[in-house]
Amino acid sequence: MNNITAGIIGGLGHIGLIQAACLAELGYVTIAYDKDQNKFKKIHEKILPFQEPGLEELITKNMAKKRLSFTTNPESLSQAELIYICVNTSPLASGETNLSQVFSALNEIMELSPKKTTVAIKSTVPVGTAAILTKILAENNLAEDIKIVSNPEFLSEGSGVTDFWHPTRVVVGSDSRKAAEFVASIYSPPQVPVIITSSENAELIKYASNAFLATKISFINEIARFCERAGADIRVVSKGIGLDPRIGTDFLEAGAGFSGPCLEKDLKSLIFQAEMYHEKPILLKSVLDINEQQRKNIVKKLENSLGRLERKKIAVWGMAFKPETDDVRSSHSLPILKHLLSMGALVTVHDPWVRSPEQTGIAENELPEISWSASPYGAAENKDAILILTAWSDYRKLDFSKIKNIMSNPLIVDGRNMFDPEKMQSLGIKYLGVGI
Ligand code: UGA
Repeated sequence: MNNITAGIIGGLGHIGLIQAACLAELGYVTIAYDKDQNKFKKIHEKILPFQEPGLEELITKNMAKKRLSFTTNPESLSQAELIYICVNTSPLASGETNLSQVFSALNEIMELSPKKTTVAIKSTVPVGTAAILTKILAENNLAEDIKIVSNPEFLSEGSGVTDFWHPTRVVVGSDSRKAAEFVASIYSPPQVPVIITSSENAELIKYASNAFLATKISFINEIARFCERAGADIRVVSKGIGLDPRIGTDFLEAGAGFSGPCLEKDLKSLIFQAEMYHEKPILLKSVLDINEQQRKNIVKKLENSLGRLERKKIAVWGMAFKPETDDVRSSHSLPILKHLLSMGALVTVHDPWVRSPEQTGIAENELPEISWSASPYGAAENKDAILILTAWSDYRKLDFSKIKNIMSNPLIVDGRNMFDPEKMQSLGIKYLGVGI
């Protein structure tokens, strides 16, 4: 067993729980602290707060080995030499990042009266946050005992555990080189570049990474619109440009746009931060605009084929913001559904992992009169169109001749370009993708 005790604040959130389970698997005694009593109760009943491939096995194994424990009491972290802050940093209405949970985490750490503790910030925080925390520590005469390190995470939902084991890089930023090296030493596989730098650089690397990924997606979506006009196929164009190693093939899939709890939030925050410095983030704002437009365009495709959507029966396949997750936070499906409802469409939803309105975490009156179906076939029955919003691989295994026969009008609008238009056409299905 490893000799270091690690603490996690926000230990039952997406970042915190993966971090906790993987640290325990590495052999560190890991204490995951979270204020949420409900999640705490459930994890002891073996119910995870979210689904993530490979996570449950790690948690079960490491709890049994007594390397991983959960607590709702911050005092349990008093023996931790290293504490990760993994709390939520959602934006305020103004666009400014809400750092209240980060500050409250720091207060909890200060109240532990720790000696020689390193605090690694995993949450995505605006540039300058680590420096503010260091200043607070200095004002409380704790700057010698507690060192702050910015250690952004680059895990993607749905592959978070795999991403933990195979990082593309490890970034640690601090004004204490020793503390930064300590955090980097916790898990930096050989051959993986380690960047030891200032906390400002580390914080900005995180925002710029997500903003760049979002930019690639909006770029390809803009080219996709051009393809539709010019009779080209974005999938071929995307492959053709991505094979240039300077461009790369990843994140060049056109569709209904990016969504989820990270890319959009971080892009908005970066825009807000740039504007605070009186900069004009023209490109970043366009990336957001294109993404918004992409969501509207997908509904326009339905209208172009069906006319007015009032009383039209639409099956929506996919609520999660991407496959292999049950996360609906900031999913593009929500605004698209609202748009459909505002036009009077009658909507039936299917998602293999999101099966009820409660799971979406949004009030029922926000999405009124939606029906839920346990199967994609059930959702498609007697519908005027299917709208695909999440690229669940299970949809590829379906019998589309059967689907054609059970629909009242065989139209598929595919916001994820999952299928071959010619094959669909040969089955008698009108198939509209994005940029094809
Ligand atoms: C993103 C980043 O990819 C991670 O590196 C980062 O650590 C994470 O945010 C975070 O900040 O925590 P994630 O939000 O889990 O990860 O999801 P992505 O895989 O980035 O997908 C985001 C959205 O973009 C999804 O809606 C997806 O469908 C869409 N997308 C992705 C496309 O529309 N086209 C693509 O080519 C790729």
